[in-house]
This record gives sequence, structure tokens and C-alpha cells, in this order.
Amino acid sequence: MKEINIRRSVRQFSTKKVEEEKIIKLLKAAMQAPSAKNQQPWEFIVVEDDNKIKELSNVSKYSVFSKEAPLLIVVLARKDNLKVSEYVPQDLGACIQNLMLEAVNLGLGSTWMGIYPGEERVNFLSKSLEIDESKATAFALIAVGYPKKEELNKFVDRFDEKRIHREKY
Ligand SMILES: Cc1cc2nc3c(=O)[nH]c(=O)nc-3n(C[C@H](O)[C@H](O)[C@H](O)COP(=O)(O)O)c2cc1C
Repeated sequence: MKEINIRRSVRQFSTKKVEEEKIIKLLKAAMQAPSAKNQQPWEFIVVEDDNKIKELSNVSKYSVFSKEAPLLIVVLARKDNLKVSEYVPQDLGACIQNLMLEAVNLGLGSTWMGIYPGEERVNFLSKSLEIDESKATAFALIAVGYPKKEELNKFVDRFDEKRIHREKY
């Protein structure tokens, strides 16, 4: 699939807003992910307000680039009705990857910023976004936008024969 090969972490964006129709497509792709016992442990906060984006970009020194992004999607781990809570990080990894591949498909670029399990980062987002911690935990922050230059999404070959074992380790 083309999107898998050309997806790169895009940290420089044009000023063009991401259309609402595309935001919904990203979230639809995210929610199509597989999850353990189909527990679908995700919720999302869509942030488009420039001042809020600037505030959230201070969550860590590795997120500062995202102050120029036109859109941040906060991925939350739900706490209620979980059938196998220990699998939530894997479920959310699949969900985020789906979202990022759909971004490429829509001509967008994105970067995953790790939040959970960093306590300080989780607390920062809880406070800033008024997250009810009895209901959900901030898990990841995704910066999304139109890449500043088209070639920011480009193929990098990472195939490595040495990582492959057959029949036994
Ligand atoms: C769990 C996770 C956390 C990450 N956190 C950050 C981050 O805080 N800031 C950032 O700029 N990139 C972050 N990244 C992006 C990685 O640096 C990037 O995926 C990696 O260098 C490979 O580059 P590529 O995405 O262009 O293939 C994160 C990626 C993952 C999967």
C-alpha cells in the first residue's frame, strides 16, 4: 500500500486548515482499528483553536514543533467498560496508525507525539483539556496538517533481512 511506504513524521505544515470532512475521515479510519475483544477503548479531542494548540505544544520539548500545526487530535484511553484493559496500548497503537495512514491518503501529514505513560505529560493534558480522569487518560497527541512541502511524505526503505527469523529464533 502506497500510504504505508511514503508516510513520514511531518512536522512542518502549511497554514491551510484541515477541512471538517477530512477530520471526520481521519476519525472514521481511527475507529475502524482492531481492538482486543473489540473493546474500542478510544475517544478523541479535536483541537483547532490556535491558542489552545500553542498551549498543548508545550506538553514536552519534543512537541514544540506542533505549535504551527492547524490541527491536533488528542487520543484518549477510555476507562469504563474495558474487557481486557492490559491490551489498551496495543489497541490505541493500531488506532493511531490507521489515522496516520488515512492522513497520507488525504494528502495530509502527521506526527505522533507520545504522552502516556509519561505522568507529567498525562497530567499536563488532563489539566489543559479538562479531561475527567475517572473516565479517560490522555494517550497520544497527533499533529495534522498539509505538509509544507509535498516531498515531506516520502519513501524511506527500512526493510532489514536480519530482523526476520523463520521456523525458530
Ligand atoms: C510512541 C511514539 C512517540 C513519539 N513521540 C514523538 C514526539 O514526542 N515528538 C516527535 O517529534 N516525534 C515523535 N514520534 C515520531 C518518531 O520520532 C518517528 O515516528 C520516527 O522517528 C520514525 O520516523 P517516521 O515517522 O518519519 O517514519 C513518536 C512516535 C511514536 C510511535
